[in-house]
Amino acid sequence: MLDKLGRSIDYLRVSLTNKCNMRCLYCRPAKEGDALSAVQPIQSDDLLYLLSIFIETGIKKIRLTGGEPLLFPEIINFIKCLGTFPDLKEIAMTTNGVLLRKNSAALINSGLSSINVSIDALTPAVFSVMTRGADINEVIEGIKSVRNHISVKINSVIMKNINEQEIIPLADFSREYDIPVRFIELMPFSQTKDYEGMSEESIKGIISDRYGRLYAEKSGKSAAHYYNFSDKRGKIGFISAMSHKFCGSCNRVRLMADGCLRPCLYSDKEYDLKQMLKQNCSSKEITAAIKKIIYGKPEQHAMQKKIFFNIKHGFMSEIGG
Ligand code: GTP
Ligand code: 5AD
Ligand code: SF4
Repeated sequence: MLDKLGRSIDYLRVSLTNKCNMRCLYCRPAKEGDALSAVQPIQSDDLLYLLSIFIETGIKKIRLTGGEPLLFPEIINFIKCLGTFPDLKEIAMTTNGVLLRKNSAALINSGLSSINVSIDALTPAVFSVMTRGADINEVIEGIKSVRNHISVKINSVIMKNINEQEIIPLADFSREYDIPVRFIELMPFSQTKDYEGMSEESIKGIISDRYGRLYAEKSGKSAAHYYNFSDKRGKIGFISAMSHKFCGSCNRVRLMADGCLRPCLYSDKEYDLKQMLKQNCSSKEITAAIKKIIYGKPEQHAMQKKIFFNIKHGFMSEIGG
């Protein structure tokens, strides 16, 4: 599917639930219910039907997100069902990792091709502050339980005066376990007002002061771009939506847990596809609606303006990143 700028959209991020078993400072309100939209989740069967239409229309990669996707009921069966669509080339997941260990055997056999795990600190006390109480050891154990079978990457959001001292331990972790660590510039969403992110440039400076020159890899389709260390152990990535906007090569749209399609991460518009199902629209009509929404996808985000959404799905924890 092409949008009006000729970008080919073949990656769908699917937020399965807005519920999460963590409460990261920059992502989710301190208390349940604080202005989070009351999501009427789409039924699993309806969701699979919608996804079958997306795949027929050209989606090749689906990333399952949340909230926390491992809280979605029957998640393993759901992944297996996705695996039956021959035109879907990649099924990925972004998780906080707490439930990885418990689900590791089932996930390994589910057909999932890769997992991104959010880890903002390795020091237990700092991790606990960032997540308002979670245990880093559970997450590390989870990663160890799957990493020999499923490709794993780490996502880290670094904030000044909160977890900046974790940059080098995270780089060390990448080298020790040979797992890519991607540093994400903080993006302005509802919970980020009180925090200051760190730019790619400053994080790269800290890492190269410690490890010497970093070697850029040729960029692919990902939002991330990567650097290697001189000895090729480990890998560092950056997702720099603020300092290195990548909207020009965007290949994705997002489906929310209530069946709304969000054409850009930073959209203030959503389109209710669940409503179309309720109205018994045909698959042809739904396909036409999806194509039209994708065609009209915004050219780029306007995060520099720091407009904090006051609309449904204004929280990163319900959009799924
Ligand atoms: P890969 O497919 O493994 O490269 O993962 P990904 O980066 O697409 O997905 P992930 O869920 O790991 O997201 C990592 C970070 O990138 C999160 O903070 C997302 O919010 C951010 N991100 C993903 N896609 C976009 C995008 O289209 N625009 C912006 N601005 N940020 C994005
Ligand atoms: N800015 C940047 N990244 C964020 N994430 C959540 N909120 C933000 C934000 N405001 C990241 C999480 C997770 C991914 C899905 O999105 O750390 O890795
Ligand atoms: Fe934290 Fe991820 Fe949950 Fe957000 S969705 S609160 S980043 S664990």
